[in-house]
Amino acid sequence: MTTTSSSPPSGIVPPSRTQRARAAISARTLRTDRWWVSPLVTAIVLGVFVVYTGVRLFMRNDYWVAEYHYLTPLYSPCLSASCAPGSSHLGTLLPAFPLALPLPILIFPILAGFRASCYYYRKAGYRAFLLSPPGCAVTEPGMRYAGETRFPLILQNLHRYFFYLASALLLINTYDAVLAFFPANGGFGIGLGSLVLLINVAMLWLYSLSCHACRHIFGGRLKHFSKHPIQYWFWTQLSKLNGRHMQFAWTSLITVMLTDFYIMAVAAGWIADLRLFN
Ligand code: FES
Repeated sequence: MTTTSSSPPSGIVPPSRTQRARAAISARTLRTDRWWVSPLVTAIVLGVFVVYTGVRLFMRNDYWVAEYHYLTPLYSPCLSASCAPGSSHLGTLLPAFPLALPLPILIFPILAGFRASCYYYRKAGYRAFLLSPPGCAVTEPGMRYAGETRFPLILQNLHRYFFYLASALLLINTYDAVLAFFPANGGFGIGLGSLVLLINVAMLWLYSLSCHACRHIFGGRLKHFSKHPIQYWFWTQLSKLNGRHMQFAWTSLITVMLTDFYIMAVAAGWIADLRLFN
């Protein structure tokens, strides 16, 4: 007869909590593959992104191309009276900022919080920076493991709220991408910058729609899918995207950086925007 009880059969002493956590192996790992490549690449790419965005946020220039209505996603929406003329699509709701204050001071914490609390980036960051653990079946440095049960990591549970805020910013980014097809000289126009902004916003949509919180919001709490066919359909489609969330996380990170760099290059006069139409 089989049993469904979780209690061990009589006479067998259950392993202690410590014994369950780790096998008694003195080697750091028994893995023979190059398990360290993934956390190393992650640390390099994320490190480059953090340094790049940090520099760009404090530059406070070359973020807006008035002639073609190109606004970098790192500065959108630009809400301060210090913003370049024409770049404040929602108006200048904030006063002029002192030079030491980045113009996207309100929006950047939302974008950073959304990425930092992302389920995928959490895994990637813990492996690459905290080495906790650096890879599957690789012991971590002698830190006490507390998971995300204490400050500051417990704040990661705010992810769904960052999702709501970042979704509002994504709508504004979408508006920016549409505006990039209507240059200042009037009418419709297409430049390489318009396409760059469009591709970037498409990748941001894929990243957001594939978010675990987004999937949960649409269908995570349903007990009977058969009674909610529309939500079930959305949940099914989002689940397909969710399976590729890691790829969208990386691609959108890189497109944000490249889009900003392209707009900076055009705004600074390093290159001319390649105009395909008008
Ligand atoms: S889980 Fe990655 S953005 Fe939500």
